[in-house]
Amino acid sequence: MNSLPIKPRKVAFDLSSIPRHWNGGDPVLTRFFDALSVHFPEGERFFIQSVRNFQDQVTDSQLREDIRHFIRQEAQHGIVHDRFNDVMAGQGVDVTKSTASLRLFIRTTQKYLPKKYQLAMTAAFEHFTATLGEAMISDESEMFRQAEPVMRALFLWHGVEEVEHKAVAYDVYQSAAGGGYLTRASALVVATVAMHLVVAPVFIDMLRLDGLARKPGVILKGLNKLYGRRGILSGMVPEFLAWFRPGFHPWDTGMPEKVAAWLEEYEKDGDPMSASNLIFGTPPLAEVA
Ligand SMILES: [Fe+2]
Ligand SMILES: [Fe+2]
Repeated sequence: MNSLPIKPRKVAFDLSSIPRHWNGGDPVLTRFFDALSVHFPEGERFFIQSVRNFQDQVTDSQLREDIRHFIRQEAQHGIVHDRFNDVMAGQGVDVTKSTASLRLFIRTTQKYLPKKYQLAMTAAFEHFTATLGEAMISDESEMFRQAEPVMRALFLWHGVEEVEHKAVAYDVYQSAAGGGYLTRASALVVATVAMHLVVAPVFIDMLRLDGLARKPGVILKGLNKLYGRRGILSGMVPEFLAWFRPGFHPWDTGMPEKVAAWLEEYEKDGDPMSASNLIFGTPPLAEVA
């Protein structure tokens, strides 16, 4: 278990002047994260419910405390990403339609699959979000290098908290739910397939909305930045696959140095913008205005 306490942070971001293609002007890199983000509030409510189902069976007092903070962090992520959903709605994205498949997936899962499997899938999704969080903050990452400062601060705050609480659902699964290897291994396969089936059509719809249907060159270049040999998602594969090691635990990789640096900077004045600037560098003045 991690020795650092999990801390919920009530942050807010000024999203009033976010450019449509906020990630370095690249429509594909932007819409990929938009398509993930639009699903976060619904998804995080599912994660909270899955963990809550086992909350009363957790005997370890530290884990009980971690669960409370995990729930508050995920709830705050939902609030902030809901505000960003309003921004996307203003651009013409139909948020209700975009999240319909996820709602159907969650409804079906909660109706037909055992609570233990729902928790295994939550732990699996949490493995993905923590791996993404660790990747976005790493030195080699090009994920948000050119991104609009507010948006990169928003994703970084979320990513850091995903790292901070990366073991909570996993530990509840292992202890209170008595979960085993095969179920959790299969859950990551199911979760990965489901995530692609849910997110890909929304991603494509957003690109279509931006008039990119007739620009295959732009799409291919963007996809190469995601899935190519040196793509930002391809780089995550080894950490992602570590899940399938029988003795795997989320804290095997420890606390990345830069996450610790973000946490320390944030502690000073509770400002996610300055913590983000510490990691990514201070943007030129024109961008700050
Ligand atoms: Fe989250
Ligand atoms: Fe999470």
